Order: sequence, then structure tokens, then C-alpha cells
Amino acid sequence: MKKVNFGIIGCGLISNNHADAIRQIDNAVLYGCTDVNEKSLLSFSDKYGIKAYQSVEDMLNDDNIDVVSVCTPSGLHARFAVMAANHGKHVVVEKPMALTVEQCNEIIKASEENHIKVEVICQNRFLNTFRQVKKIIEDGKLGKIVSADIYMKFYRSPEYYASSNWKGTWKMDGGGALMNQGIHGIDIMLFMLGDVKSVFGHARTLSRDIEVEDTASAVVEYENGALGIIQGTTSVAPGYPRRVEINGDQGSLTMIEGDITVWDVKGVEKPVNQSESAKSFRDPMNFSIEGHILQLTDMVEVILNDREPFVNQYEGKRAVELITAIYQSSKERKLIELK
Ligand SMILES: NC(=O)c1ccc[n+]([C@@H]2O[C@H](COP(=O)([O-])OP(=O)(O)OC[C@H]3O[C@@H](n4cnc5c(N)ncnc54)[C@H](O)[C@@H]3O)[C@@H](O)[C@H]2O)c1
Repeated sequence: MKKVNFGIIGCGLISNNHADAIRQIDNAVLYGCTDVNEKSLLSFSDKYGIKAYQSVEDMLNDDNIDVVSVCTPSGLHARFAVMAANHGKHVVVEKPMALTVEQCNEIIKASEENHIKVEVICQNRFLNTFRQVKKIIEDGKLGKIVSADIYMKFYRSPEYYASSNWKGTWKMDGGGALMNQGIHGIDIMLFMLGDVKSVFGHARTLSRDIEVEDTASAVVEYENGALGIIQGTTSVAPGYPRRVEINGDQGSLTMIEGDITVWDVKGVEKPVNQSESAKSFRDPMNFSIEGHILQLTDMVEVILNDREPFVNQYEGKRAVELITAIYQSSKERKLIELK
């Protein structure tokens, strides 16, 4: 059977999850890596015993590479995803897919023109809890959804921001509590509930010395008619797990991270809890590698069987669209209708 050769662009924190995951997947080969920082490049290529490319161009010009994982600061995702597509490589891109809707559209255009596959890392979508909740909502088990809220009261220390040359900046992070940390929760809300029609939001920098918001609150109206709250912050001590509350006129449920803590759903067995999945509400890297393994396995099967990724470029764009609409609403102090 053909093996799928991966190249990693950006050898920082999350690239270790990609490398460790790829090495556990049948038919996947961790082939090479590149980083603008020579020290990071060499220590990563040494650690995994893989080829070190001196530039992204070098990696993309190698016919052995089938797919790249873009693990750079978020502000470079669009540039490298488009470059890779134009070299005929498939793309795995970390969240957020890009920083603006326009950048997402550039990736979409390049992927369509070059007929390559794009998978946007949204590892929570692979957890059974969220998939099962999506299904019970679609099957009408909660009745008409009235209220759908997500609370992400996280903690990131001042040192977390100070120690990075890009986190907390508009140019490379594209936003803060929502675009960097809260995007996972926003993505699963869109996944489970469907699209948002309109939003009114406030985004503020209340406590951290950063350009982007450390705290945001928004009221959203879903296409299905439900009203909801999206709350995200990285400035709450000591930080709490993500809480999701979904209420319908015939049933309700609450989830704390991957655990279902309230299950008032008649006639449906409660899904098994998955609390081990994510504990990054205080520590950015305290989450299981399982989601990356499942999502990168999906990408290997996508390439070998020529099918669509579970979270493709059109899906990845949805959270960016909603988050940037919240920012626009906050800036212009008005309700934003999503297209
Ligand atoms: N899926 C998740 O749960 C999750 C978790 C953490 C981070 N992320 C995402 O992963 C991405 C990287 O985050 P991180 O925390 O690993 O960042 P990081 O700063 O630790 O690593 C980024 C790496 O990219 C390299 N880089 C910068 N510019 C480059 C260039 N021009 N060419 C090649 N390499 C370049 C840096 O030298 C660094 O080694 C971000 O988009 C972030 O949002 C996702």
C-alpha cells in the first residue's frame, strides 16, 4: 500500500503533536520538516530523525512530500497553505485556518485550482461526545433549540504572552481569546448547531498587555432560531473548563469540556464522557494527542481514497467568519448579519 509522506512547516509546540500523531498512523510517514529558526529546525529534525529542509520552497519542491502540516504562527497559515497548494501538495493547516475570510478564500481558491485536499485541524469534532450531541439535536431529541451557550473562562499568564513573539498580536494571532483559544469551542458550536445568522459582540483587552482581546462576549442568533451566548476570556484566575449548555423545548444538556454533566434527554442513553480530551483551560498544551491522531488519520485516508476531509476548507472557514464578525460588531458597535 502507498504511504503518505508528511512534511511539517514550523517546528514549535504543536508540531510535536503532529509528529507524534503521524508516527502512530498506519500508512503515514513523517518525512521532513522546515523552520525559519535554524535551532528549532535542527533540534526537531534530530528528535524525530527526519530530513531538515532549509526553506519551505525546498520542501515543496521535493516530489517525495505528499502533504504538509502548516504549524507556523497563524498569520502565516494562508501564505504557506496557498504555496503548498500551488506546488500540488495536500494541506493540513492548524487552527485557525487563516486570520480573515479573505485569506480563507485564497486557500479555497488555490485548493480548487490545484485539486488538492485541505484539512483544518479542529480536533474536537472527532470526539464522540460532540458527534453524538450533534446527532441528537438533528434528530429533534431536544425539540426546538431555544438556547445554546458556550462559556470559555480560561487562563493564560502574562508570561505566556511575553514569551512568544507572535501570540497576542493582530498580525500573527489575528485575535486573542476567541481567535486563538476560543475557536475550538466556537467550531464545535457551529458543528453541532449549524450556522449563525447574526451577532452582536464586545471584545476588549481588560487585563493582559496584548494588542488583541483577552475577553469577549457575544450574543448570537443561530439559523435554527436559537439564541446564544459566546463568552471567551484568557484573563480569568484560575481558569475554568469550557462549559456548553444546550436547551430545547423538550430536553437539555450541559457539557464541561468532553463530559456531559446534565443529560435531560428522554429516551436516549447519555454518551460516554471524554474528560481526558482537553484540559487546556489553564495550560495551553494540556490536551490529549488523540484528536490529532484521529484527524491526521482522516487526512491519510482522504489522500489514499480520494475523498473529502472531515473538516475541509469550507468547514474551517466557518469559525473564522463568525469570530471576525464578532470583532467587526465590537469595533462598529452594531449587529452584524453573517452572509
Ligand atoms: N490544535 C490545537 O489545539 C493547537 C494548539 C496549539 C497551537 N495551535 C496552532 O498551531 C500554530 C502554531 O502554534 P505553536 O504554539 O506551535 O507556535 P510556536 O511559536 O511554538 O511555533 C511556531 C513555529 O513556526 C516557526 N516559524 C515562524 N515563522 C516561520 C516561517 N516563516 N517559516 C517556517 N517556520 C516559521 C517558528 O520558528 C516556530 O518554531 C498556531 O496557528 C496555533 O494556533 C493549535
